[in-house]
Amino acid sequence: MSPPNLVMPTRVLVVGGGGREHALAWKLAGEPGVNEVVVAPGSAAMATEARLRILPGTDPLDAGAIVAAARAPSAELVVVGPEAPLAVGVADALADAGIAVFGPSLAASRLETSKAFCHEVAAAAGVRMAIARAFAGGETEAAVAFIRELFTAGRGIVLKADGLAGGKGVIVTETVEQALELAPSFLVGRALDAPALVVEERLEGREASVIAICDGTRAVALPAARDHKRLCDGDRGPNTGGMGAFSPVPDLDDAAVEAVLETVHRPILAEMARRGTPFRGFLYAGLMLTGDGPALLECNVRLGDPEAQVMLPRVAIALGPLLLAAARGRLPVGIPDLVPTIRSAAVGIVLAAEGYPGTPRRGDPIDGLDAALASGALIFHAGTVARPGGGYGTNGGRVLTVVGRGASLDAAREVGERAADAITWEGLQRRHDIAADLPVPAGAGR
Ligand code: AMP
Ligand code: GLY
Repeated sequence: MSPPNLVMPTRVLVVGGGGREHALAWKLAGEPGVNEVVVAPGSAAMATEARLRILPGTDPLDAGAIVAAARAPSAELVVVGPEAPLAVGVADALADAGIAVFGPSLAASRLETSKAFCHEVAAAAGVRMAIARAFAGGETEAAVAFIRELFTAGRGIVLKADGLAGGKGVIVTETVEQALELAPSFLVGRALDAPALVVEERLEGREASVIAICDGTRAVALPAARDHKRLCDGDRGPNTGGMGAFSPVPDLDDAAVEAVLETVHRPILAEMARRGTPFRGFLYAGLMLTGDGPALLECNVRLGDPEAQVMLPRVAIALGPLLLAAARGRLPVGIPDLVPTIRSAAVGIVLAAEGYPGTPRRGDPIDGLDAALASGALIFHAGTVARPGGGYGTNGGRVLTVVGRGASLDAAREVGERAADAITWEGLQRRHDIAADLPVPAGAGR
């Protein structure tokens, strides 16, 4: 079902090649009216899906190549998956070429590419974030003074590199001594006139991701998800890009998601439009659900990975028409706040290679994929390569996301765990507690 005045794209180009893009391409390719989804560069595993074609070797950061890829099969819509192409202006190049693109301009992408800019926009828009200050290279003394000030006020300290860091540029410190010791390393050798380090108060609570389809003015939320950022069970170990996710989020019901749209997404959209850089694309609000309500931890300008892998299988309508309308700046007036959702749960478990989140070991043969698929799970490939004799080998940090679905989070988790157990390779790392420690529902989660 899609609202009557929406146009269905028949051919879509998805830019990227990770697990998130696999899930996105899979979702779009399964929608009525879609003849073909082309993924640039995509992956060998994606090419095995129905109505899905890959353009291997295409550089997603090469705007000219992406424009050519969109023109070759005359895609009616381009959806940019990762942040890196957005950060170099691939969406601008597509828009300049007259191609409908769902993904923000380089200027609007600064919401993710600069944490200092995100704080500035949120402050102007009246959106609650952690208390924070940004420091440029050479401002070590000021950073140290601010860390001491937060400590004296009884607050924990988080250090964040200002630019893109693949989810790995954040250190949630345990002690003030640790913060004081590490802060200078963010600043040495950095430019004197640009933010390099953001020092934040540490917020406590559970996290949640609310991602909305935005057309510059209006916002429609996808089902909420919770990511597990730390590498190891029990939320221990280093931060990663995300080791697993689940949806719905029991402590973030529909009314709470609507409130987040109203207090986070819409004010940010209004502020970005006011600045002359309207935001069109997926606006991802990374939230901390504190005792005083949700606070914004960060904005991303794209779908989350692995959040997309659990959100998209729960979307009950065709997304293509909504993304196309939003790309044109014309989501229908009066569209509901929330995308209609399938009332089942999804639990996604990331299988990562040895060494992740540092340098991953590559080239290990992956066993058990067929058995995992046979158990009813979805498997989205992120860092795999086809092996000459058949099957796949590891080829990246996060290798696969295995998604179990079921009537409840517990049931979905069981399917996901069983499928993940079936898959093995030398040095595989994964968590065993994704969606295991569920909060008491505050209402019917979505
Ligand atoms: P970010 O890239 O800003 O989302 O940070 C990555 C992760 O670090 C978040 O998902 C949180 O787990 C953690 N984090 C970031 N900022 C804070 C904060 N102010 N307080 C507590 N944890 C945080
Ligand atoms: N999983 C967190 C992110 O995609 O940024």
